[in-house]
Amino acid sequence: MWVLGIDTSCDDTGVGLVEDGRVAVNLVASQVALHQAFGGVVPELASREHLKVIRPLAERALAEAGIGPQDLSLVAATRGPGLIGALLVGYAFAKGLAWALGRPFYAIHHLEAHIAAAWPEGLEPPFLALVASGGHTHLFEVQALGRYRLLGATRDDAAGEAFDKVARLLGLGFPGGPEIERLAREAGEAIPFPLPLKGQEGYDFSFSGLKTRALQLVEKGLPAPALARGFQEAAILHLAEVVLRAAEDTGHRVLLVAGGVAANQALQERFRQAGLQVHFPPRGLSQDNGAMVALAAWRRYRAGLPPSPLGLGATAYWPLEEA
Ligand SMILES: Nc1ncnc2c1ncn2[C@@H]1O[C@H](COP(=O)(O)OP(=O)(O)OP(=O)(O)O)[C@@H](O)[C@H]1O
Ligand SMILES: [Mg+2]
Repeated sequence: MWVLGIDTSCDDTGVGLVEDGRVAVNLVASQVALHQAFGGVVPELASREHLKVIRPLAERALAEAGIGPQDLSLVAATRGPGLIGALLVGYAFAKGLAWALGRPFYAIHHLEAHIAAAWPEGLEPPFLALVASGGHTHLFEVQALGRYRLLGATRDDAAGEAFDKVARLLGLGFPGGPEIERLAREAGEAIPFPLPLKGQEGYDFSFSGLKTRALQLVEKGLPAPALARGFQEAAILHLAEVVLRAAEDTGHRVLLVAGGVAANQALQERFRQAGLQVHFPPRGLSQDNGAMVALAAWRRYRAGLPPSPLGLGATAYWPLEEA
């Protein structure tokens, strides 16, 4: 059974194909070069680029899988949250395709898709899921597919956003996460950073203090590798401290770590040492992509959750608890 998944929530066009729950093709057309000159994603440019790329990318995905549109059993797309103009392109394309083929359509929450990417076959809820990406740092209790409880979230920047901003302070390229990780490996030692929200009782996150500290250290002219390593260690320590405390308090022993930041090797090592059963997305599935959307739709279909009406619109704002 073939499922097509599309994600155009931000600046990447993602088209993925999943066959019986296994990722067969996962194509991502990056817009990094397009937005580079502006120092951030320009929403209107993102929409226009999605519009140019979506159809040829979908055709290429089908060709690589060696199937035609008629072979698709389900069509899915990210409904939100994200940039509305960008979302609309992939969402409308997928709805049109589902309608033309007469197949069920699944409107997928972007964070459910990130979680689906890290969710191994056979793992039954409940468990904890941390989504750490460019736009989110949210800790959920996953009670069932489609039933989520928010335990904590960032009060300011998202974790990935902080990696991107600190990378920029250091004159590194975008996205900043991989650049910081690479530079941190060159460091002999780490410059210490203060741990954010020390002593808090809840499960929130904060990264703006680390960013400010990085700025002060850059202005002092301290060496970039030691600075990158210090920032990375503090960011990871903060994520781990909050999540492990939540696991302790709630009694959960299983944790998924999803989103772009989950690709960080130092982070994976830290969480693997925590004494929990921890799962990360396979390579290529942590950042925005279409296959994770197809995976979420496939799980929803298999769990007997109904497809979405074609009259349902895309939405920039959509809490996961309401998905
Ligand atoms: N190795 C890494 N270490 C740390 N951060 C990383 C790494 N690789 C990628 N990232 C970060 O992940 C983010 C991109 O992830 P993703 O594509 O999931 O987020 P997004 O789509 O921008 O945001 P959201 O999913 O919240 O809408 C970027 O901020 C990037 O710097
Ligand atoms: Mg994302």
